[in-house]
Amino acid sequence: MSRDETFVDFLAHRGVSRRSFLTFCATTASALALPAAAAKEMATLLAAAPRPSVLWLSFQECTGCTESLTRSGSPTVEALILDHLSLDYHHTLQAAAGEAAEQARRAAMEANYGRYVLVVDGSVPTADGGVWSTIAGVTNLAMLTEAMEGAALTIAVGTCASFGGVAAAAAIAAPSLNQSGARGVGELMDAGVIAERPLVNVPGCPPVPEAISGTIAHFLAYGSLPDLDAQRRPTAYYGRSVHSRCPRLRHFRNGRFALAFDDEGARSGYCLYKLGCKGPETFNVCPTQRWNQGHSFPMHSGHGCLGCSEAAFWDRTLAPDGSGYIGSCFYPQVPPLV
Ligand code: SF4
Ligand code: F3S
Repeated sequence: MSRDETFVDFLAHRGVSRRSFLTFCATTASALALPAAAAKEMATLLAAAPRPSVLWLSFQECTGCTESLTRSGSPTVEALILDHLSLDYHHTLQAAAGEAAEQARRAAMEANYGRYVLVVDGSVPTADGGVWSTIAGVTNLAMLTEAMEGAALTIAVGTCASFGGVAAAAAIAAPSLNQSGARGVGELMDAGVIAERPLVNVPGCPPVPEAISGTIAHFLAYGSLPDLDAQRRPTAYYGRSVHSRCPRLRHFRNGRFALAFDDEGARSGYCLYKLGCKGPETFNVCPTQRWNQGHSFPMHSGHGCLGCSEAAFWDRTLAPDGSGYIGSCFYPQVPPLV
């Protein structure tokens, strides 16, 4: 696809019907809680949107976020939105390697200064001068600082990039265990380590692919950020608790709980609260969007929520009196029911 080709031309060449495109715009506009007329407006704006350059920097991560994204369906309009972007740098997906890859990154940054979208997955190590993770001899922190300078928008994809995630585990319970000094992009911004720039957090372990594509679609169509909550998460995707949309909610309300993962209650689909489910204190769109083209999410496969989209993930469970975080997300420490 040439850089002058519009999105709608691109979709036509890929065999995606106008109907599918309009359905995507309607679903995304609705998920973003835009007014009724916005679906049509988004379709018009998106259809004419030029193809932006995207740099994807992978720091302390497991590649799960990229896996989630690339397995969102084949081909969904969401996946094509990502194809529509000029993905000029991505460790896992690019063909180039070594110095050629670094040259491509520098060339894309220079040619698109002030206009490109920067996607970050993985946390940023800050201890010991940042040497815990380097790319081509450059620390993640130095690369992030340089790349954010020319970015029109930065999206922190996944809980590690958003809040530190697994590499920052035990940071509150036992700070010394966060040996690499792992931090999320927003934390670095708030601490003044990097400059304040437009940033959207799309947390989750991994995040729901549609929350990423919807955020990008909003930016492409309107050139602005969607409404964000206090943790810089799009309210459209993170505005409601997992609990409020859980298919097991009626059992919670009627006091029907599984007490072991293989008991009769579990087999009957009862609520998993007493097995440590963090759904009531976790905000994410997973119960309605789900994975694998809407097929499943944790409570469908018999496991409670671990709180993967919260700053508290991995090792922080809310204390019963709400005064702070204790223990691990993986232990069934259950606050009393009120
Ligand atoms: Fe709420 Fe978890 Fe029970 Fe679902 S399984 S109703 S999220 S406590
Ligand atoms: Fe994560 Fe909980 Fe949803 S663990 S995927 S926020 S159910």
